[in-house]
Amino acid sequence: MEVVIVPDAAAGGELIAEAMAELLRRKPDALLGVATGSTPLPIYEALAAKVSAGAVDVSRARIAQLDEYVGLPAEHPESYRSVLRQQVLEPLGLEAKAFMGPDGTASDVRAACEAYDKALEDAGGVDLQLLGIGTDGHIGFNEPCSSLASRTRIKTLTEQTRIDNARFFDGDIEQVPHHVITQGIGTILDARHLVLLATGEGKAEAVAATVEGPVAAVCPASALQLHPHATVVVDEAAASELK
Ligand code: F6R
Repeated sequence: MEVVIVPDAAAGGELIAEAMAELLRRKPDALLGVATGSTPLPIYEALAAKVSAGAVDVSRARIAQLDEYVGLPAEHPESYRSVLRQQVLEPLGLEAKAFMGPDGTASDVRAACEAYDKALEDAGGVDLQLLGIGTDGHIGFNEPCSSLASRTRIKTLTEQTRIDNARFFDGDIEQVPHHVITQGIGTILDARHLVLLATGEGKAEAVAATVEGPVAAVCPASALQLHPHATVVVDEAAASELK
């Protein structure tokens, strides 16, 4: 695992966007795994700026979703499909057909999860998977004690994660779904390159456990230690608990 410490979130966004651009120059139809939440926004902004400046052609890029709420229709403004359409697809000028994700409204959720793992495999696998990290060390929505070998499946959100995400639902926790579909940790580890960005002091403990702690299900992100090509990009605040 390589750890890169950058001065701030914007520098992390620029560094990772350039890594994505380099990948797309080598492999124009690369499959990019994307995350939602606040952390990756500087990455998406920096990548869109490169596209506008003509520094990279993303017209053949493909985008894969990491996780999705169960029960929110795709057109709901807070479904991750909608969020990623706004934050990634539209700024990059990509059409909906470039996008793949699990079906959070399927009547048979288990079958939808299996179908998504199969679709990722059939698409040739994720080339670069972006990850954020929860304050409890979660990646995707693999909360602490998720199996490190898990595949895409339905998970129940912890109360803390629902509280954290209520900010996207007018601060009303009642509106936050209880369940999500998330790529499993095993699914995430199948990607060829994992890039985790963590910014802010609130992530410092989780970053220390990820990088310096034992590989353990209590800190799902520690599974990155098992991956042959994992990059953890942290700003100085998020690096503050590293020895
Ligand atoms: C969402 C996801 C989550 C977030 C994590 C951090 O797709 O994968 O694991 O990355 O909850 O969220 P932020 O970036 O909002 O702190």
